[in-house]
Amino acid sequence: MRNFLHVQDLGDLKLALAEAQEIKKDRYKYVELGRNKTALLVFFNNSLRTRLSTQKAALNLGMNVIVLDVNAGAWKLETERGVIMDGDKSEHLLEAIPVMACYCDMIGIRSFAGLTDREYDYAETVYNQFVKYSGKPVFAMETATVHPLQAFADLITIEEHWKNSQLRPKVVLTWAPHPKSLPQAVPNSFAEWMNAADVDFVITHPEGYELDPKFVGDARVEYDQKKAFEGADFIYAKNWSCPGVTRPADYGKILHDYHTMTHWTVDAEHMSWTNNAKFMHCLPVRRNMIVTDDVIEAPTSLVIPEAANREISATVVLKRILQSL
Ligand code: CP
Repeated sequence: MRNFLHVQDLGDLKLALAEAQEIKKDRYKYVELGRNKTALLVFFNNSLRTRLSTQKAALNLGMNVIVLDVNAGAWKLETERGVIMDGDKSEHLLEAIPVMACYCDMIGIRSFAGLTDREYDYAETVYNQFVKYSGKPVFAMETATVHPLQAFADLITIEEHWKNSQLRPKVVLTWAPHPKSLPQAVPNSFAEWMNAADVDFVITHPEGYELDPKFVGDARVEYDQKKAFEGADFIYAKNWSCPGVTRPADYGKILHDYHTMTHWTVDAEHMSWTNNAKFMHCLPVRRNMIVTDDVIEAPTSLVIPEAANREISATVVLKRILQSL
């Protein structure tokens, strides 16, 4: 595997999940693989989990790691071609990318959606520029439309907490309110990976927040959150802004004042509709907005195991890339 953006890049998902468990048993098993190899992690946006877990994964594999925070110490980068650079951006990404590539063997990119130009975001313009102009393997650490390292960690977590090998778990992705406009990367990837996994997958959200059909796939979309939650084994909560599927002009917008949407916040009553479901969220989470204190603190909350599995998903992905060099 050279680049990592979608679930298909991993090939056989069952093999990848088995590899995750192999690495979990001995996370330094492949420590010789990365000797004298360098991972460059480029952050255009903030991060706690991705930054730490991906660095740890690279260290597990014996690699050197360089982290670049583009907005803290580097020249401000222009990302669009054709712009007259008379503003505050001193360097163009089209020079910066090949320069960055000189110092590493693979590049991880965190670059969120701008949420103003759907076509630009959904073309994965920044990620694809890194692929095109670096000549190095590139992996997503949350790009404009996807967050595959998170979704892989989420799937590992679901597999670890589903004890009934005879039945498929019912997994529900639910929209929840938030005061700010957030990208669709996490729900997009979660949907993509759940569709590839052996689960019964349902998506619930208020009308207008329909995810892109290429990510929804064969999932059942249920606008009644209570109906969606009934019998659920895993509840995955996340906010996302309008994906602009039905009304492109609404792309990136919050469609309703969040004060009027608090009935979508996952609380104990919501969880009582489920089959004693586990609660999941990628973090960071706004408490008592997305989920109440009692639900996230309950023994059924998996938010910390999900975060822990970010090290495992990243170790599998970086290992696969190292094996392709
Ligand atoms: N879940 C996740 O990607 O966390 P960070 O934004 O802190 O990296």
